[in-house]
Amino acid sequence: MEADSRIAVSVMVGNECRKLEVKPGENLLLAMVEASLPVTFMCTTGKCATCRLRMEIPDGSAAPPSGTERYRLGEQAVQQGCRLACQVFVQGPLTVYL
Ligand code: FES
Repeated sequence: MEADSRIAVSVMVGNECRKLEVKPGENLLLAMVEASLPVTFMCTTGKCATCRLRMEIPDGSAAPPSGTERYRLGEQAVQQGCRLACQVFVQGPLTVYL
């Protein structure tokens, strides 16, 4: 992947799909904040869980949930696709549900 390439992130806000283009390795929460999307957050360090969102992340589009995420979210929520947006660094196309 070239250094200046962009990755498509789809953000579903109700029935509306907003498309973001992010740099490889960019933090998902910050990308959504910069795009003025209505995402809630407090700590940005994986502690408060207010940035919890359901996502569809294909293999290779982001690292799997960290131990911190599994602890904060619980296994059931992780199995349902929940992640902490502040802990997701985008490596490939993915979809977020607000
Ligand atoms: S903003 Fe607190 S866990 Fe993500």
